[in-house]
Amino acid sequence: MLLLTREDLEKVLAMREVIEAVEKAFLELYHEKAKVPLRTILEVEKHNGFLLYMPSYLESSEALAVKVVSLYPENPKKGIPSVLASILLNDPETGKPLAFMEGTYITAMRTGAASGVATKYLARKDAKTVGIIGAGVQARTQLWAVYEVRNIEKAYVYDINKEKSQNFADEMSKKFGVEIDVVESPKEVAENSDILIIATTARKPVLRGEWVKEGTHINSIGWVGKDARELDSETVKKSKLVVDSREGVLNESGDIIIPIKEGIIDETYIYAELSELVAGAKKGRDNDREITLFKSVGLAIEDAITAKLAYEKALKLGIGTHIEL
Ligand SMILES: NC(=O)c1ccc[n+]([C@@H]2O[C@H](COP(=O)([O-])OP(=O)(O)OC[C@H]3O[C@@H](n4cnc5c(N)ncnc54)[C@H](O)[C@@H]3O)[C@@H](O)[C@H]2O)c1
Repeated sequence: MLLLTREDLEKVLAMREVIEAVEKAFLELYHEKAKVPLRTILEVEKHNGFLLYMPSYLESSEALAVKVVSLYPENPKKGIPSVLASILLNDPETGKPLAFMEGTYITAMRTGAASGVATKYLARKDAKTVGIIGAGVQARTQLWAVYEVRNIEKAYVYDINKEKSQNFADEMSKKFGVEIDVVESPKEVAENSDILIIATTARKPVLRGEWVKEGTHINSIGWVGKDARELDSETVKKSKLVVDSREGVLNESGDIIIPIKEGIIDETYIYAELSELVAGAKKGRDNDREITLFKSVGLAIEDAITAKLAYEKALKLGIGTHIEL
């Protein structure tokens, strides 16, 4: 069995390849070549956390894996990341365990990649500015993915914790050579940006629909349980709504469940799943004025395909440690 650490994964995974792999996984999903049961979520109320168990199998790519990922929103106060994960990759032919790998980095890469695919189909072709609300771990790979699919010239960032915004701006401007302004409010982010990345652990809306300008594309990835949300109802109502999974979002995402409960939208308001855009069954953006929203809760096929990619590349490059269980 191959053991892959975070350091190993950083050497083998590039965002461009992960975007391609994740897009392929969504195509397989559309063609019913994927098994992806609704994940099991175990809430650990006593410690204010969640454990998610996420198995999946992609028949054409032969990717079979299970991820165990936790979300503990208070962790950063203890110096521990909010999201922690590990992934077991099995051989579909024999069931044999092939690899065990650090899953936190894979999660960040594949979540970024899913938004990258959505941005490719939904953002205006001439989008040049990106706004980030919530400058944590995911925001970094979200920006990386957007940067791969559009010509970004400038970014704006806001986090409730200003130090985090500043660190994000310093680190990411060096990485991409893009100017990143730290701003004082989420409103300022929204008003300046063609593409918005909302990646918070907020329980109450951080983005208001009244701030979102025509032609914006929004990627919203935050999830802190079905009673919490980072988007207000007006944002959802103003947008053409695409999701990673209808079932996932309708069962888990407060961003969509709450406006449904308020009677502002109903389940039919979801325009498409990402797989339908990838397969060409539905069109992405219609015109330069519409506001598009990609709401994701994360799908296990994204982990399985990314874990398989990492495993194959690691074998080729001789990276990782072989162990006998
Ligand atoms: N959709 C998916 O597939 C997917 C995958 C992984 C993580 N997530 C979700 O993404 C979110 C971010 O995860 P992370 O690993 O980056 O966490 P993180 O703790 O590293 O970052 C979250 C950031 O949000 C900021 N924040 C909290 N409340 C805010 C507010 N009101 N306004 C502005 N900023 C605020 C925090 O200060 C922090 O910097 C979580 O909700 C997590 O569950 C989703």
